[in-house]
Amino acid sequence: MKKRLVILTGAGMSAESGISTFRDSDGLWEKHRVEDVATPEGFAANPQLVLDFYNQRRRELLNTQPNAGHIGLAELERDFDVRIITQNVDNLHERAGSSHVIHLHGELMKACPINDLNTAYDISPEHPDLHIGDKDANGVQLRPFIVWFGEPVPMIEPAITEVEACDIFVVIGTSLNVYPAAGLLNYVRRGQPIFLIDPKVVNTYRTDIHFIRKGASEGVKELKELLRPYAQPQ
Ligand code: OAD
Repeated sequence: MKKRLVILTGAGMSAESGISTFRDSDGLWEKHRVEDVATPEGFAANPQLVLDFYNQRRRELLNTQPNAGHIGLAELERDFDVRIITQNVDNLHERAGSSHVIHLHGELMKACPINDLNTAYDISPEHPDLHIGDKDANGVQLRPFIVWFGEPVPMIEPAITEVEACDIFVVIGTSLNVYPAAGLLNYVRRGQPIFLIDPKVVNTYRTDIHFIRKGASEGVKELKELLRPYAQPQ
């Protein structure tokens, strides 16, 4: 049986693809106020500003490719039962070939009606912008399928189930500032190996973490070496 490898990723995973992180210097939250563009109150106050912000993110994503880190994680499926839990709203894990991806914070290439955050529609890359006046079949305005601050995180439940069942846990490119995602570390059983890839120091309360102080591409390369003893090819 292949070992179950659960990997939590954050914005640093996609940094080498050219997508800005949030809290690094020059990150997205230096240039935009979270309250304005990532809360339901911000959307109610100025929907055009919020639609423009995500339209810009979506257009950036369409000009972006998975990096060696995303591809390395997809390749790990040869030897492991890999489950990815991502805070990222991009689709770079899927485009790199990963089969099991849980999106905790929504998906940039989807829209949902403002009165039903659980029904998502694909946004076509040919028409990537959402506008005021874009409605679903019931005539309800569409909004980005993004979990904003203050909104429920429904995918946290399946994510916890994955983490509880993991044999090995890996964290890549997240400052672990945002809950409930950061709390997933609590659910890793004692004795299961934990690896954390980040070029900067990430503070956690756990003392049983193997830190890899590298960017995602180089870090995933080193991770693959460290995982060799656990590998179980088909
Ligand atoms: P942050 O911007 O808070 O953290 C990014 C992390 O990536 C930091 O620890 C960086 O050191 C690290 N990093 C930078 N470059 C890297 C590289 N090349 N390789 C690996 N790591 C690198 O982003 P998140 O923790 O993902 O939510 O932020 C969590 C949530 O906060 C996001 O999903 C978003 C944001 O507000 C919403 O918008 C709902």
